[in-house]
Amino acid sequence: MGTNTLAITDNRTGKSYEIAIEHDTIRALDLRRIKVSEDDFGLMTYDPAFMNTASCHSRITYIDGDKGILRYRGYPIEELAEGSSYLETAYLVLYGELPTSDELKAWIHNVTYHTFIHENIKTFMDGFHYDAHPMGILVSTVAALSTFYVDAKNIFDPESRKKQTHRLIAKMPTLAAFAYRHSRGMPYSYPDNALSYTENFLNMLFKMSEVKYQPNPTLARALDVLFILHADHEQNCSTNAMRSVGSSHVDPYSAVAAAAAALYGPLHGGANEAVLKMLAEIGAKDQVPGFVKRVKAGEGRLMGFGHRVYKNYDPRAKIIKRVAEEVFEVTGRNPLLDIAVELERIALEDEYFIQRKLYPNVDFYSGIIYQAMGFPVEMFPVLFAIPRTSGWIAQWEEMLSDSEQKIARPRQVYLGEAQRKFVPLERRGANPGKGRV
Ligand code: CMC
Repeated sequence: MGTNTLAITDNRTGKSYEIAIEHDTIRALDLRRIKVSEDDFGLMTYDPAFMNTASCHSRITYIDGDKGILRYRGYPIEELAEGSSYLETAYLVLYGELPTSDELKAWIHNVTYHTFIHENIKTFMDGFHYDAHPMGILVSTVAALSTFYVDAKNIFDPESRKKQTHRLIAKMPTLAAFAYRHSRGMPYSYPDNALSYTENFLNMLFKMSEVKYQPNPTLARALDVLFILHADHEQNCSTNAMRSVGSSHVDPYSAVAAAAAALYGPLHGGANEAVLKMLAEIGAKDQVPGFVKRVKAGEGRLMGFGHRVYKNYDPRAKIIKRVAEEVFEVTGRNPLLDIAVELERIALEDEYFIQRKLYPNVDFYSGIIYQAMGFPVEMFPVLFAIPRTSGWIAQWEEMLSDSEQKIARPRQVYLGEAQRKFVPLERRGANPGKGRV
């Protein structure tokens, strides 16, 4: 028996099996050999919410949750946040290497060239109700892009994929900004291609009557860093949606719409909004100990704390805390920051949080910065979706080029009724389902 194997004995039959271990995993399909009889389907694993199932091999993002490590293509997030721009990082995430200066120039040119959207998109954006959530508008309009670019269906043509990648990275900020302007009843502000990616986004959001919008460089850089931090996070809920929907070979606009819809949910892209609400409810620094006591007593959670993967300080939260200070020098200090810092200080010294390895996550400080920069809370998931688009596309590309991938189609454990005979309506008596409709 090899050492890199798992020996299993099926006590139902007394038979033993040897299963290969590769990269600390076993292949679930190998378990199908384990049968009670020849016509038995074979053993499956049951893993709701994919708590312990790797769905792919990936070379994009590495996370070590215990040590608080996050790397894109091997580069630590701290170094990328310090030394690169969002578009440079997006290139790295998408293509696997940092660009040369010529490659970066061409990449920025290609993305900038595609920032405009078809005028018809504005027309149906106008059709949304005045108080439509900008994330709902974004999800719908990015799906609609597939009807404008029919060449996007050629997903196995590398040139077509490249074109859609440029379009998606370029147009997401435009759709997002137009969604925001619509929800504010403001005229749309067109892209200014002389500006950088985040400068232009601020221009499309906040330009008023000035001839040329001059974004504050500190705020544009802060947004750029936040975009770097959100570019990818391996197999999270929205990325899993991107891969799963993309595995049906639908066009990338439809798959990105599905991923963005997953991100819209409060358990994924909406936690920073919950942090703001919590801080506002606490109201003052001296109320923090009382609040922490209530959390420990099981009366609610400390939002922005804890993570399924990180059992240490989320490395993104550390960087965001530093960015917050830079932003507040321009915008003035968000009073909620003092409450947040005090909350963090008390929680990190408390046995309850130490024992459970609960540390601040990415959402603990990001909402405070976004609020200080003038974004309404409804825009928070939108601000997440724009940079995550590069991660979604990178993961989609990787999935398409992986010869082991097929249409994503989990199995189930059926626990319902066995076969039974149809009963005509006039002969049906009372049944447990009655009264449900
Ligand atoms: N405040 C207080 N107690 C907590 C918290 C918290 N924020 N998070 C976990 N716990 C406790 C929980 O009560 C449990 O205690 P016990 O063992 O006594 O029952 C223990 O810690 C383990 O919690 P869990 O619910 O099993 O952990 P999980 O991995 O299923 O949940 C989480 C992870 C992020 C959903 C959770 O920590 C949480 O609800 N945090 C607050 C919401 C939040 O900040 N979400 C943003 C996540 S980062 C954004 C992203 O990447 O999408």
